[in-house]
Amino acid sequence: MIVVISHPADLHAQRVTETLRARGREVFLLDLADLPRSATLSIDPAGLGLAGQGKVTIRHTDRVVDLSSASAVWWRRPQHVVLDDIGDPDARGFAYGEWHEAIHGAYQLMPCPWMNPVHADEIASHKAFQLSVAPQVGLRVPETLMTSDAEAAQQFIARMEARGGRAVYKIFAATHQVWRETRLVGPADLAHLPSLHLAPVIFQEYVPAVADIRVTLVGGRVFAMSISGAPEVDFRLGLGRAQTAAFNLPAETATALQALMERFGLAYGAVDLRLTADGELVFLEINPAGEFLFVEAGAGHPVTEGLADWLCNPTAAGGAAGGAVGGVATPGAPLPVGGALA
Ligand SMILES: Nc1ncnc2c1ncn2[C@@H]1O[C@H](COP(=O)(O)OP(=O)(O)O)[C@@H](O)[C@H]1O
Ligand SMILES: [Mg+2]
Repeated sequence: MIVVISHPADLHAQRVTETLRARGREVFLLDLADLPRSATLSIDPAGLGLAGQGKVTIRHTDRVVDLSSASAVWWRRPQHVVLDDIGDPDARGFAYGEWHEAIHGAYQLMPCPWMNPVHADEIASHKAFQLSVAPQVGLRVPETLMTSDAEAAQQFIARMEARGGRAVYKIFAATHQVWRETRLVGPADLAHLPSLHLAPVIFQEYVPAVADIRVTLVGGRVFAMSISGAPEVDFRLGLGRAQTAAFNLPAETATALQALMERFGLAYGAVDLRLTADGELVFLEINPAGEFLFVEAGAGHPVTEGLADWLCNPTAAGGAAGGAVGGVATPGAPLPVGGALA
């Protein structure tokens, strides 16, 4: 059984699930938002009486699913447990913490390959860490300052301008509620710098480009797409007007991206690059659970099939669940990292 951790409205999960079922595979959609209203969770950690195998089960009224027997897990869009029935905020916070512990403990009793291991997804999603590791595997990154210090930001912006360039600013992580595009720093933005101490912002050297390149890595496979004709900053604002096409990624960039995946212990990743006029590729970020249907539509790449292939045969991709970041990753054994219920 293949376990997909997401929710029913997730189109990406739907497509992959349909593909897997068409291949005759059993798929279980684990929607953590079913807890606690319409499902229960049970963990028998030592599996006494079960040949010493720990066991995790999810029970819906009509069905009991043994999660510990999963052959592969796709950590796609994990939801929060829904505790709206608990009115008292302290009690809700307590219950939330208990759910968090139970769920993350349960993951350890699902010892199959994960795409991606929870800890690897969590660690790799930090942009500060990405931009620090990327140059170590040979990728060019833009000059960057992540800061809550208005004076430091001002100096960074001035330095970019002094050499004839510009600076952009962007957020660390979008949420369901908040999404912000990357913007060029303009005079009006400078007036807001005094409030920077309230929350840090990413300032970055503006990288002029002829195209944005999206690279989707699935197991050992690399699917690259170019997006051109979009606005100068942030292609997502003009994706409808942009031209997309399959892109021939230089071998050395593909190798560097694979090395990045291995460093982070990721089996899946979606990378954003900028292609400059002189043909250089500049790394912006890697999304450990990034979207891919627009890549399929825009470049014809069979990403859904690639994902289904990996989930059916997870050991074939190589380095998939393993790879060590800071010595914490163990192949096939995801470790819990705090705060990662979302
Ligand atoms: N330093 C930069 N120079 C030029 N464009 C950028 C820069 N950083 C981001 N962009 C544009 O904004 C988009 C979103 O930025 P990105 O770094 O991928 O963050 P996120 O997707 O998390 O918002 C990029 O795909 C690119 O089009
Ligand atoms: Mg991006």
